[in-house]
Amino acid sequence: MVQPLLQVENLLVRFGGILALNHVSFAVAEGSITALIGPNGAGKTTVFNCLTGFYRAHEGRILLREGEGARDLVRELGGFWGGTHRVARAGIARTFQNIRLFADMSVLENLLVAQHRQLNRNLISGFLQLASFRKAEAEAIDFAHFWLKTVGLEGSANQLAGALSYGNQRRLEIARSMCTRPRLICLDEPAAGLNPKETDQLAELIRALRSEHKVTVLVIEHDMSLVMGISEHIIVLNYGQVIAAADPQAIQHDPKVLAAYLGSEDQA
Ligand SMILES: Nc1ncnc2c1ncn2[C@@H]1O[C@H](COP(=O)(O)OP(=O)(O)OP(=O)(O)O)[C@@H](O)[C@H]1O
Ligand SMILES: [Mg+2]
Repeated sequence: MVQPLLQVENLLVRFGGILALNHVSFAVAEGSITALIGPNGAGKTTVFNCLTGFYRAHEGRILLREGEGARDLVRELGGFWGGTHRVARAGIARTFQNIRLFADMSVLENLLVAQHRQLNRNLISGFLQLASFRKAEAEAIDFAHFWLKTVGLEGSANQLAGALSYGNQRRLEIARSMCTRPRLICLDEPAAGLNPKETDQLAELIRALRSEHKVTVLVIEHDMSLVMGISEHIIVLNYGQVIAAADPQAIQHDPKVLAAYLGSEDQA
């Protein structure tokens, strides 16, 4: 395997009596498109919540490579300061299963808010040197337009985010995440609610994120043809445990994986 960008070790999360994650370990290779799949309630979103600082795992390590070493985000999240900001600074961005945009702001403003960390830093210098703040602001606007164009929303910059179609809101969420200049983007069910054409366009966009924009992609998705079509490595969760981790071909023929999905259909 190419050197992992992310190495999750023995992650354990409890909600009351439920073990949502039961010693989950997996790796995400740098530059890969890796999928995290599994039946409803398997713990997929909980993994993302740990990776992005929304929850602090009770046990385990989340090692994010940095230079020659790695930092453990679980340990760092023990500090006082908000976990999500710390993780964003470390270079992990996410989208949400239930879209979370600022519906009353314009599409462009949503992308500027995402970049506020860079802008704030320059705001301080702005009092001292107005030109540098103006420059940073102009760069943020340019970068936002670049991502609007890349995701195909260029004509919608001034619309309210809440007025966009569902498919376009999903694209805007991806653009917003990319505006934080992440090394790893975590997409939680990006194809949910999309029609087949939009799903094909999403597949192209995800491929481009990796190949042209050099970001590592970790994607949760129930659409199996999308998952099998774009990912080179798949991790399967069931009842909070990793039951398989392999390439798409091997996953499709893994009896444990088939049993987990059939079992979940029986219950439905
Ligand atoms: N904040 C929470 N409080 C209590 N229980 C939770 C919480 N978040 C998740 N859970 C429980 O943890 C388990 C895993 O949930 P999670 O949302 O991670 O599943 P998932 O694999 O993302 O499912 P889906 O495919 O339906 O999105 C479920 O039993 C869920 O009810
Ligand atoms: Mg989920």
